[in-house]
Amino acid sequence: MLGIIGGSGLDRLDGLEAPRKKAVRTPYGRPSGALAFGRMQGREVVFLARHGPRHAIAPHEVNYRANIWALHAQRVKDVVSVASVGGIHPDLVPGTLVVPDQIIDYTHGRRATFGRLTDGAVMHVDFTRPYCESLRQRLLRAAAVAGERIAVEGTYAATQGPRLETAAEIDRLERDGADMVGMTGMPEAALARELGLCYAAIAVVVNHAAGRGTSIEEVRLADFSEVMQRAMTRVRSVLNRLVGLDGD
Ligand code: HPA
Repeated sequence: MLGIIGGSGLDRLDGLEAPRKKAVRTPYGRPSGALAFGRMQGREVVFLARHGPRHAIAPHEVNYRANIWALHAQRVKDVVSVASVGGIHPDLVPGTLVVPDQIIDYTHGRRATFGRLTDGAVMHVDFTRPYCESLRQRLLRAAAVAGERIAVEGTYAATQGPRLETAAEIDRLERDGADMVGMTGMPEAALARELGLCYAAIAVVVNHAAGRGTSIEEVRLADFSEVMQRAMTRVRSVLNRLVGLDGD
């Protein structure tokens, strides 16, 4: 089954057929909210709003372990994360959709591992390619079928937040090789890998990162939601196609 984690701007997945909610508990506490089950294109999917139903959970407060565990416990195999980002690369202007292929983690103090294996050994996982390539390719195919332009790769810098970055921090992220910046990509991706889930993301560029483009003097947060609302229609269309492709 496909799991979808919705970020800012995607707190609900409209159009789910036969929707039903299920509140779950995990050994790591409660997820951000109830899981929403339903069918898209006749196939069962489950949706979870990362920031909670009222968008009250900040990026550093999200219980990433409970969220990923809850999806895994419902027999989810593939997880698509939808997340808003600031664009660092000049091509990544507001409104662009990206399927990132790499991550750099700048977060700190988050619970970033499920811990030890049942035999007590430390859990080390390979993370050379942090996103599941087969799901990335299916997302790109779904976007092509939906007729939506989407950037096929890019490096996602995960920052701690909740404040946005300084212009100098963005310069540094760029020197490090980052193309976009967001606050929720980690530890979500690593936790998914620990549980063997196939995890990929659609990043929605909602602003020029600090010190770039129209954000030279300031990042105008007030503009985010309009860009986001328009882009989310396209994200939904990609997700619909993705579900249709599944099992082809
Ligand atoms: N920085 C960090 N996270 C973000 C941004 C940004 O500019 N835009 C949306 N999420």
